[in-house]
Amino acid sequence: MSQRKEIPQHIAIIMDGNGRWAKRQGKSRSEGHFAGMNALHECVQNAANSGVKYLTVYAFSTENWGRPQAEVDALMELVCTGVELETEELAKQGVRVLIIGDRSRFSDKVKAALNRIESNTAHGQTMTLILALNYSSRSEIVVAVRDLAEKVASGELKAEQIDEQMISSALYTAQIPDPDLIIRTSGECRLSNFLMWQASYSEFYFTDVLWPDFNKEELDKALEAYAQRDRRYGLVK
Ligand code: FPP
Repeated sequence: MSQRKEIPQHIAIIMDGNGRWAKRQGKSRSEGHFAGMNALHECVQNAANSGVKYLTVYAFSTENWGRPQAEVDALMELVCTGVELETEELAKQGVRVLIIGDRSRFSDKVKAALNRIESNTAHGQTMTLILALNYSSRSEIVVAVRDLAEKVASGELKAEQIDEQMISSALYTAQIPDPDLIIRTSGECRLSNFLMWQASYSEFYFTDVLWPDFNKEELDKALEAYAQRDRRYGLVK
């Protein structure tokens, strides 16, 4: 592989294709998600080893509640299993975990697991892993706008004071830099309600590889593609 010029500080991934991977293997969709979790485990290690500082993954969208109940249950169980299996190792490796999304709809068991992984990894300095769970970019923006509107109504804020920075700070991702690179697996080329505000200047990388097959080699290909991009932010070089 050629020498890499630049590693993205923040990679965000739409982990797509677990169901199709399972179908091809003659397995259940839940088994596909389990394989997806193993791929996520690998990806966290590989991203951290490559020097990535923030890794955001779209693990459950607000739309995913509409899937068959057995699949939703399996995904919720996977969140709890993942927390149980991974927390200690992530803490040892210095990976801090943050959750973005609306937690109110999760069961107490899932909420407790999410609180546990966040608090037990809070001091991690190597990389921040952000799990988007019950996440919707549009809902995130609605919540932020409401929050600012209430401050205007109470006189705490003037409407003309609202700027891009203030909106960024009102999102779930307030403390997180915008993603430099957004990866989507499985051949789909859309954003699906993921980080729409934050993706304004992100580079996109689409691959036909299904998420459970997204290994180190595939991450390296995405990093290589990113290194070739010329980011101009609307300017002339
Ligand atoms: C999309 O594939 C994937 C999901 C909706 C779930 C992603 C979840 C994981 C990778 C599991 C590990 C993560 C955590 C934190 C539990 P799809 O089911 O839409 O695949 P398809 O389009 O081929 O049907």
